[in-house]
Amino acid sequence: MTRNSRAVASPRVVNIDDLRSLARRRVPRIVFSYIDGGAEREFTLRENLRAFEAVTFRPRQAVAVPSCDLRTRVLGFELSMPVLLAPVGYCRVIHPGGEMAAAKAAGAAGTAYILSTVSGHSLEDVKAASAGPVWYQLYLTGGRAAAEAAMQRARAAGYSVLVVTIDSTVIGSREREVRDGMEQLLRGSFWSQLPFVPQLLGRPWWLGRFLLHGGLPSMPNIVSAEKGELKVRDAHTAIKRAAFSWEDMSWIRELWDGPIVIKGVLSADDARRALDHGAAALVVSNHGGRQLDGVPASLRVLPEIVAAVKGQAEVLLDSGIRRGADVVKAICLGARAVLCGRAYAYGLAAAGESGVTRTLEILRADVERTLRLLGCASVNALDQSYVKAPANWLDFAVRTHIE
Ligand SMILES: Cc1cc2nc3c(=O)[nH]c(=O)nc-3n(C[C@H](O)[C@H](O)[C@H](O)COP(=O)(O)O)c2cc1C
Repeated sequence: MTRNSRAVASPRVVNIDDLRSLARRRVPRIVFSYIDGGAEREFTLRENLRAFEAVTFRPRQAVAVPSCDLRTRVLGFELSMPVLLAPVGYCRVIHPGGEMAAAKAAGAAGTAYILSTVSGHSLEDVKAASAGPVWYQLYLTGGRAAAEAAMQRARAAGYSVLVVTIDSTVIGSREREVRDGMEQLLRGSFWSQLPFVPQLLGRPWWLGRFLLHGGLPSMPNIVSAEKGELKVRDAHTAIKRAAFSWEDMSWIRELWDGPIVIKGVLSADDARRALDHGAAALVVSNHGGRQLDGVPASLRVLPEIVAAVKGQAEVLLDSGIRRGADVVKAICLGARAVLCGRAYAYGLAAAGESGVTRTLEILRADVERTLRLLGCASVNALDQSYVKAPANWLDFAVRTHIE
């Protein structure tokens, strides 16, 4: 057991916030800001957390729950609990184990891992690392040809589901990253980098591992005929040049014959649009408050979207999941399952694979305890009667039903 794995297993790590504190101590400030920060004034980032506090439980007291069933099915996959790992880019910079460590931990916990396009490990290696389902998240970074090649490789490697993220026409302005010198460290001259180097030297364990594993990784799943594997320093510009629009769905559909998930839906209109484009599932998501600041919390718009979808696709939710109680609230309001991003990225930063495993253990124990305290024996039996949400959250749902 390494020093870091011991730390995440210690009684001091009780919840995801404790993993966040450990992560802050383990990685340089710029890496922590990358994980933790949100866009602009971080209103949406805070709203995501506040929304879960605005929903309260209505338990059925004194109901014995001798056994608790956390299993659920998402797009036909049986998962041991209703929590999937969201696509998180550049995990290999957070920890050299990166995407492979996260996928392995997810598989061992009996749940699915969604690999980001901007991964430092090849999609084949990540698939091989996990004993569970692995899905591929698509950005058009690098252009259509690179995306097409990645989809073909993903199919051949056994990825069954494609997740198309629709909220990233440009990258949100994450001001903490700017302040901590992201631009200078990635693309600057030696002299412009210099003021930001002490934060790296202040985390010698992270820096030693980072250098030992070759420094900044390239992106082995974004390969162009002319330039080869995309370099991290070119990724931002490449994303800007190749934003997704709905017109892209037809060629994506032609290339991908499996289920497609649309991630980043925040309105009933876009939910219906996604259905028209053949989505098998939607992720109600504001990218964890990292893209357009000022959009509502995902949980806040979940009832409206569930009502609009009318059971024609599965509805998943992410943004703000920090506790098992949050998972349960989202399911009560109509989500089939949730994705967590930062919750496991903190674990990864704190201790690689063991840290991700710890995140999943914490969330699993939380969900089970919450179900027992609610007097509910199965995640599949959760519904709106177990929670009280602010009345105006449900206005939309009522109106959509009447339409
Ligand atoms: C550090 C970081 C990197 C992310 N990278 C991606 C990505 O490459 N692709 C994507 O679709 N979403 C990405 N996301 C968004 C997550 O998939 C997810 O929507 C978000 O983290 C959910 O909010 P939460 O962090 O509060 O759980 C990223 C999120 C974080 C925190």
